[in-house]
Amino acid sequence: MSTIQAVRGMNDVLPDEAALWREFESKVEAWLERYGYRNMRMPLVEHTQLFRRAIGEATDIVEKEMYSWRDELNSEELTLRPEGTASCVRAAIEHSLLHDGPKRLWYSGPMYRHERPQKGRYRQFHQYGVEAIGFAGPDVDAEHIAMCSALWRILQLRNIRLELNNIGSPQERVRYRADLVRYLEKHQDRLDADAKRRMHSNPLRTLDSKNPIVQELVASAPPLASYLGDASLAHFEGLQRLLKAAGIDFTLNPGLVRGLDYYNLTVFEWAAADLGAQRTVCGGGRYDGLFAQLGGKPAPATGFAMGNERLLALMREAGRNPQPRPPHGYVVFQGEGTHEYAFAMAEELRSKDFSIMLHAGGGSLKSQMKRADASGALYALIVGEDELKAGEVSVKPLRIEREQLRVRRERVAELLKGS
Ligand code: HAM
Repeated sequence: MSTIQAVRGMNDVLPDEAALWREFESKVEAWLERYGYRNMRMPLVEHTQLFRRAIGEATDIVEKEMYSWRDELNSEELTLRPEGTASCVRAAIEHSLLHDGPKRLWYSGPMYRHERPQKGRYRQFHQYGVEAIGFAGPDVDAEHIAMCSALWRILQLRNIRLELNNIGSPQERVRYRADLVRYLEKHQDRLDADAKRRMHSNPLRTLDSKNPIVQELVASAPPLASYLGDASLAHFEGLQRLLKAAGIDFTLNPGLVRGLDYYNLTVFEWAAADLGAQRTVCGGGRYDGLFAQLGGKPAPATGFAMGNERLLALMREAGRNPQPRPPHGYVVFQGEGTHEYAFAMAEELRSKDFSIMLHAGGGSLKSQMKRADASGALYALIVGEDELKAGEVSVKPLRIEREQLRVRRERVAELLKGS
């Protein structure tokens, strides 16, 4: 019979790789706690309409990357979440999370986008998302950027650079958009098919085109910055002042517009010099219009999300390869009645917080000892008929040169504790 493989772009994390995932997760979660962020968990499936409204109809994600289907039983259009911000805001509105003041939140888990898989780009990938809802000032934008900078230090990742932009308010962008479209129309002959399509549906996305000809053209387009009013400029200056005070380097990139439509004012991305084409490890910005857009009471908000697979790839490239902690003991047994005795002893030791593996699958004592050695355990705990009769256990150190001891069963915990 033919075997069944995983779905393309959706990866298994095998035990040897999971050790690094767990190290990453425990560091990230300790860091989030240090900044006072609280965890929340949203469903993987939402109404399709949520993402259409939040991310925008004319974005790559909504146009072609969502896993959507119709649930015939309930006549509902549903989608596997491509990102977490829309769900987080939906949940905040649904449960009135802002009724007693602003909130600092985080979530994590798999996201789904039907992209063309390649190194660093998957159809199921994992994010940590951080959202500060109910905060209007540039200070929280700065807090997020400073948090990222601190996290790269904690993870010992170098060469991750910050790009920053301010895309103004929706009103400022309406004026800018009209002028940009006029400019692009004048130079239609130099636009590729994608840029031509975007020119009317989402003209700002032509600013971050990967096509060098389009790039050159938009470099001479009217600059978005010159359309920003006093409030937008003050926000941007406030942010830059705080970043400079904290010694955080950044590059201003007027072409940075992000692939989701809910942003206003601050947008930023962190890119790793050492990764290939998929080098953006983290991105975010302010989304002050999203609460109202999803039918809630207007509230300012800002946030970011990072791609776990890309950060883990950087950690792996930096040579990080944590080993799992070895068990304290591996129990082997042979002879009438020894299985029950060994089984009960293993449970007793685990209840005292020791990690104990009990041999399974039978075999000679010699083959069991081989398994004990391969397990990485510090001690083999040997139960034969003699030990059973005497209420004892033979304890053989496997990692240090020391003689085997035979002790009463009650003393095993004491002996392991000293290890
Ligand atoms: P995003 O830029 O779409 O933003 O995704 C954030 C990060 O997720 C990216 O920088 C990248 O590291 C990772 N990522 C995205 N797509 C893939 C993929 N196909 N494979 C592997 N990694 C990927 C958001 O999702 C926003 N919700 C961020 C945000 C939160 N803005 C405000 N709050």
